[in-house]
Amino acid sequence: MSRAPRPDGLVIAIDGPSGAGKSTAGRVLAERLGYTFLDTGAMYRALALKALRGRVRLDDEGALGDLARHSLIELTEGGRGVRLDGSDVSAAIRTRDVSAAASRVSAHPQVRRQMVARQQEMGRRGGVVLDGRDIGTAVFPDADVKFYVDADPRRRAVRRQEELAAAGTIADLDAIEQEIRDRDHADTTRPDSPLTRASDAILIDSSDVGVEDVVERMLAIIRERSG
Ligand code: DC
Repeated sequence: MSRAPRPDGLVIAIDGPSGAGKSTAGRVLAERLGYTFLDTGAMYRALALKALRGRVRLDDEGALGDLARHSLIELTEGGRGVRLDGSDVSAAIRTRDVSAAASRVSAHPQVRRQMVARQQEMGRRGGVVLDGRDIGTAVFPDADVKFYVDADPRRRAVRRQEELAAAGTIADLDAIEQEIRDRDHADTTRPDSPLTRASDAILIDSSDVGVEDVVERMLAIIRERSG
């Protein structure tokens, strides 16, 4: 089956667990290619924030599906920021509470169906780098290049701790590592599109390499693939 042409360039999928450095690498990669970066996790985070604020139960799939239908979630500034119903929530979605809530909200098929459709629409013309959990498996199974970025949980916890510190929150490393492991467990075992490496995704272990090196490896592979 042939797919519609992508006039604006390739679709590049980056999946992997939280804290592996996907979004930083994805953002730099998109800049280098002149592509749009889409942080799909920010969409689930924005919905989770709205659910927390509105006291919608995180296990109420119907209510969350309705909430998603009535929410305007926009990725702004080349995918760096996110707006919820017109307000900038880029900082508000980065708390630990929202991380945990986003993982729960994203498990519901009614929520996923809507987010996936919006992501497919945003990436339809190509020229995009999408960062998420199910990009290469569910959103764009026919992505031109797929990466799966992984790293040791302790390294991921250290990175997360640094991010939180930069935002003014001091947090215990063991507690962060446990939260990361809990979230990995929830994201990889949910019945609807669990986090998994697509068979044709290229594995990049970012445990011992910096963002620049990850991006260089990605660029080399993209060049090789696109001739
Ligand atoms: O990448 P992140 O940490 O911002 O994602 C927050 C949560 O959203 C994560 O626990 C899993 C979920 N998510 C998802 O299910 N599918 C995506 N494409 C992106 C994120």
